[in-house]
Amino acid sequence: MEKLNKLTKIFKKIYYKTFIENFKGKLKYDFPSNFYRWDLIEYLIKKNNYTNYLEIGCDQNQLFSKVLIENKIGVDPVSGGNIRKTSDDFFKENVNKFDIVFIDGLHTYEQVKKDILNSVNFLNENGIILVHDCMPDSLGKQAVPRYKMQWNGDVWKAIVDLRQKENLDIYTCEMDQGIGIITNKKNSSVLKLNKPIGKIKFKDYFENYKEYMRVISLPEFKKIFK
Ligand SMILES: C[S@@+](CC[C@H](N)C(=O)[O-])C[C@H]1O[C@@H](n2cnc3c(N)ncnc32)[C@H](O)[C@@H]1O
Repeated sequence: MEKLNKLTKIFKKIYYKTFIENFKGKLKYDFPSNFYRWDLIEYLIKKNNYTNYLEIGCDQNQLFSKVLIENKIGVDPVSGGNIRKTSDDFFKENVNKFDIVFIDGLHTYEQVKKDILNSVNFLNENGIILVHDCMPDSLGKQAVPRYKMQWNGDVWKAIVDLRQKENLDIYTCEMDQGIGIITNKKNSSVLKLNKPIGKIKFKDYFENYKEYMRVISLPEFKKIFK
């Protein structure tokens, strides 16, 4: 994980607040304290008899080691998993199809959007894509360039952008830093933005995140994906 020294953090924070955005609002989410990303993945594997798992960004295998499934691939250029590549390089040569993909690599809008679209191309019918870190609670947690250690990045923007597409059905489950849920189906609730995605700021997310992200609770998720 990227190391940030104190001076770099201060410089990047001033830069972000001066040239990109300065907004103080903080959100309070209701993330369950007894159900995490590995529980969600286990739930989906068991319910759908999934056999093929892909994780993008594995770090110290905090999640990868907990996923029990017939075949699993973990891609990370630095540590963890079982393929030492960036996700872009992995997808260039990949020939496998997956039932469930967990995207948790580089947390920037552009990269996450690419990771999602690449994953869609290698998703089995009835497969699902999960995206970690979709719900930042404050400006600093989502700032790119990064100036905080605790960081979700602007993953949320990839979800908002793709919620405008007709051919992907997307929700965000309010749990474990916000988990995007994507299936390769007709969008049952196309998002209409009143400005281009490049102009959407954290303040817009703060004011509209429930609609932008199509937020659902864990019980709602279990009803929809039963
Ligand atoms: C937040 S950690 C992953 C945590 C893990 N998935 C978990 O659930 O605890 C992000 C990881 O993404 C990796 N990463 C960074 N850029 C990447 C890229 N372009 N492709 C794949 N992985 C990347 C980093 O090396 C880091 O290990």
